[in-house]
Amino acid sequence: MTAPERTVYLDHAATTPMVPAAVEAMTAHLLEVGNPSSLHASGRHARRIVEESRETIAQAVGCRPGEVVFTSGGTEADNLAVKGIHWSRMDALGGTPRLLASAVEHHAVLDATDWLRDADEADVRLIRVDATGSVDLDHLRELVSERPVSLISVMWANNEVGTVQPIEEIVAIAAEHGIPVHTDAVQAVGAVPVDFAASGVDAMTITGHKLGGPYGVGALVVRRELELTPLVHGGGQERDIRSGTLDTPAIAGFAAAVELAVKEQADRATRIGALRDDLVRRVREVVPDAHVHGGALDPLGVHRLPGNAHLGFPDCEGDSLLMLLDAHGIETSTGSACSAGVPQPSHVLLAMGCDPVQARHSLRFSLGHTSTAADVDAVVEAIGPAVERARAARAR
Ligand SMILES: Cc1ncc(COP(=O)(O)O)c(C=O)c1O
Repeated sequence: MTAPERTVYLDHAATTPMVPAAVEAMTAHLLEVGNPSSLHASGRHARRIVEESRETIAQAVGCRPGEVVFTSGGTEADNLAVKGIHWSRMDALGGTPRLLASAVEHHAVLDATDWLRDADEADVRLIRVDATGSVDLDHLRELVSERPVSLISVMWANNEVGTVQPIEEIVAIAAEHGIPVHTDAVQAVGAVPVDFAASGVDAMTITGHKLGGPYGVGALVVRRELELTPLVHGGGQERDIRSGTLDTPAIAGFAAAVELAVKEQADRATRIGALRDDLVRRVREVVPDAHVHGGALDPLGVHRLPGNAHLGFPDCEGDSLLMLLDAHGIETSTGSACSAGVPQPSHVLLAMGCDPVQARHSLRFSLGHTSTAADVDAVVEAIGPAVERARAARAR
């Protein structure tokens, strides 16, 4: 087989290319020496860059600079929120309070809650979602009314099907019981409007590589009044909540990316949402029984991320389709994870009511800031033959 002429990258929800502004901000500091905790001039210079970056991020996401706690990315920030808040509330509430997370959270939250259940006997309950992946608010009301709850963790927007959660309503329910709310906003910042203070949440996860910044850097935004037990002990660099020497160049790149993504959010949403709608419409012309998983297409991102197209192709293994498109240079994703070499259906689709067979028919196209109309044309050209071959392979 001849190598594809170009890569059509449609996996922006997994990671998105760095924007030039972030590359510039990061590389400008790579050759500089200075630990931001050192007192000499080089250390003070590094500290100034870190603090200016903190201010930039705070301004972009609507929090105070002192509320930004830098971490190594989204996974660490989610773990810090879930375990750190649960443990500190456990001390305050006594006993083993209930811990709530939605059934469609990323594994960074769900595996942390599973771990707490196994290691600490936490009473973990998953909040049900409807067929679009949106949290069932009546179930949440029921779960919070039964016994004390340490934390509610519900993501701002889902990474697989793009569903934007009713954060305002969740915060209102939590507030009636004095329960803190954590939200994983990794997929949301830069894609839909996000304002930490206005949302009323107590902690919020963000990460660099999903919005045009570098890998390996993120933050947990934490309300100053919220008590949190640290997970990583050492020099106490980040308000004693998180230890470790800060990565000054990565933080500068992260801040530049957040600033730009938020500034361009509305324009990007309009452009990317239109491309996504075009992709779905034209794929369905070629493969009429392909169907959309999740909420209605909604270019402005009120209920669904503008760049997300999650499609089910009946009688096709999503993994086969992925590999067939990859051979044409088209890069996509299935929500399935491999366990011992066997693809497992996505927990998100199962929670939305898909059966395991339907769940394995799916493919996620996620568009982002570098997506073009030519990318959509390439998918439309390749999808028909790819689906035919995947169906034939399955029938064999
Ligand atoms: C919703 C969500 N949360 C958390 C993460 C983990 O973030 P990171 O890759 O920065 O650890 C991801 C990335 O896949 C994600 O999509």
